[in-house]
Amino acid sequence: IFSWSEVTPERVKGRIAVVIDVLRATSVMVTALNNGALKVIPVLTPDEAFEYKKNNGKDILLVGERHADIIEGFDFSNSPLDMSPISVTNQTVVMTTTNGTKAIRAAEEAKELYIASFLNARSTAQILAQQDDVVLIASGSNGSFTMEDTLCMGYITNLLESELGNALGLTDAALAARQLFINAQQNLLALASQGKHYRLLKSKGLDDDIRYCFSLDSINLVCYRKNGEIVALK
Ligand code: MLT
Repeated sequence: IFSWSEVTPERVKGRIAVVIDVLRATSVMVTALNNGALKVIPVLTPDEAFEYKKNNGKDILLVGERHADIIEGFDFSNSPLDMSPISVTNQTVVMTTTNGTKAIRAAEEAKELYIASFLNARSTAQILAQQDDVVLIASGSNGSFTMEDTLCMGYITNLLESELGNALGLTDAALAARQLFINAQQNLLALASQGKHYRLLKSKGLDDDIRYCFSLDSINLVCYRKNGEIVALK
C-alpha cells in the first residue's frame, strides 16, 4: 500500500501491518524508543495531543509537525535529532504528523502492527520473516506515493526474500518496490532526493535529519503496537 489514504479496514483486518514513514515520522518513533522513551502515542490532531497531556499528567512530550514545522504549544518538531536520550528517557511521546500517524491510525484493524524505517529495517524484517500475510504500508505524502517510503518497502521486501530466505508470494506492488530498491541501492539518495517531500525538508535546511533517516540498519530495535501504544519489543 503506497499511502495512508489507501488503507481501509478490509485491507488490513486480521493481517500483520508494517507502517513506514522514512521522512520522518517512523524514523522519529524508532529513535525515541531506542533512546529511552517509554512509548509513543499516535494521535490525529494537535487537540487530541493536548487532551492526552491534560488527562495523563507529567512526563509527556508533544512531538509533531504540520508542513514540516513545529506545532504551536508542542515540545518538539518531528525531528529524529531532537529525540536525544536526555530529552526522551522515561517520557511518553505523543505524536501527530501529516502522514505517518494517520497511516498508523488507519491500520487500527490490523492483527499486529510494526513501525519500520530504514533505521530498523533489518530488525523488523527478522521478525516479519516468521510471519505470513504481511502488508507493508508506505505512509506516502498527502495521500500520494513517495519515493523514500517505497524504497524502504523495497528494502524490507528484499531482505525478506534474499537474505532471510522467505519465499514470499509477492504482490505486483511489492515486486515493483523491491525492484526499485535493487536498481537504486548503490545510491539511494540520488533517487530519493528527487522526491517532493525530500525537497521540502531540504528547502527548510533539514539536511541532517535526511541524512540520519537514511542510515540503514543503524538501530537494532523492533517497534510494535501493544494495547494501542507503540513500544519497543524487549
Ligand atoms: C509525516 O508524517 O507527514 C512526516 O513525518 C512529515 C515530516 O517530515 O515531518
